[in-house]
Amino acid sequence: MKTIGVLTSGGDAPGMNPAIRAVVRTASQQNCRVMGVVNGYDGIFDGNIEELGHRSLASIIDRGGTILQSSRCKRMYTPEGVDAARSRLTELGIHGLVVLGGDGSLTGARELARRGMPVVGIPASIDNDLYGTEMAIGVDTATNTIMQLVDRIRDTARSHRRCFLIEVMGRNSGYLALTTAISAGATVAVIPEFRYNMEKIVSMLNHRYQEARDNSIVMLAEGVCSASTFMERMQKAVPEGEFDQEIRITVLGHVQRGGIPTHFDRMLGARFGELAVMGLLQQETGCMTALAKGRATLIDLDQVIGKKKHPAPELIRLARNLKVEFGDAVEL
Ligand code: F6P
Repeated sequence: MKTIGVLTSGGDAPGMNPAIRAVVRTASQQNCRVMGVVNGYDGIFDGNIEELGHRSLASIIDRGGTILQSSRCKRMYTPEGVDAARSRLTELGIHGLVVLGGDGSLTGARELARRGMPVVGIPASIDNDLYGTEMAIGVDTATNTIMQLVDRIRDTARSHRRCFLIEVMGRNSGYLALTTAISAGATVAVIPEFRYNMEKIVSMLNHRYQEARDNSIVMLAEGVCSASTFMERMQKAVPEGEFDQEIRITVLGHVQRGGIPTHFDRMLGARFGELAVMGLLQQETGCMTALAKGRATLIDLDQVIGKKKHPAPELIRLARNLKVEFGDAVEL
């Protein structure tokens, strides 16, 4: 294998750049060259590729986002599109491909591998919803960002004895809401994996306010519903139509996805980038780098794609023991 392609696809994640850097450095160490595919899978169709050398790597280790840019490529959703991408990769002289992204991006990677293109995926998505790996690139930075933002919001919550309803990302996953509820000391976590009980949440918030005259934080994963919808539902659940306490909404949005990658994400990017190249050179394909019991390893994409990642039971127990309210204790 002489030429390795690398692309980033789907939502960007802090740590993608350190991973790209590791791919290029490792490949160069193994006498291979790396072509960066610009703008995700779209770059394959458009022939938008550029050689990545040491100069392209200057000052990227501490940058969030992805220097290669990213897209959600519709053409990769059809078998004809994947066939075309497969042929195009050969035309572009790419012998093996590293794909960084989330579930959709790695589904595309598996399809390319099934058509004979050597591909290794790297999980990169702040949602941490990919089955088979304890962590994906970007999760640590995003959770640190959210935690720090919640800390700031709490200053106002304390000062005004308010309740804040904070909507965080996580299309199908409550990981961000759950773990930051623990680390930022929130009162309630509403996540798509568990059924919530609005009456219980409301009476808990009211009781807390009446008894302790305290502030409260509710962490809501966007995968459940929007904060405004949740607020409407909360209001409906209050018999008199009003809360004792003032409630404010904060939707954190895309500030969660940007920013300087943390040490953990840089290390994860470095470990995954290096392993992906070493895997390709050892004829591994159709697989993904994964963190399992703290070790970087390769796992077959067939064991990943289409599987639902549930929150780790010890995380749920931890949240419960620390009195983070879920509403009902029913896992969906
Ligand atoms: O998959 C990562 C993610 O940040 C989700 O949490 C979120 O729902 C989605 O991407 C937002 O995507 P976009 O930036 O395309 O609006």
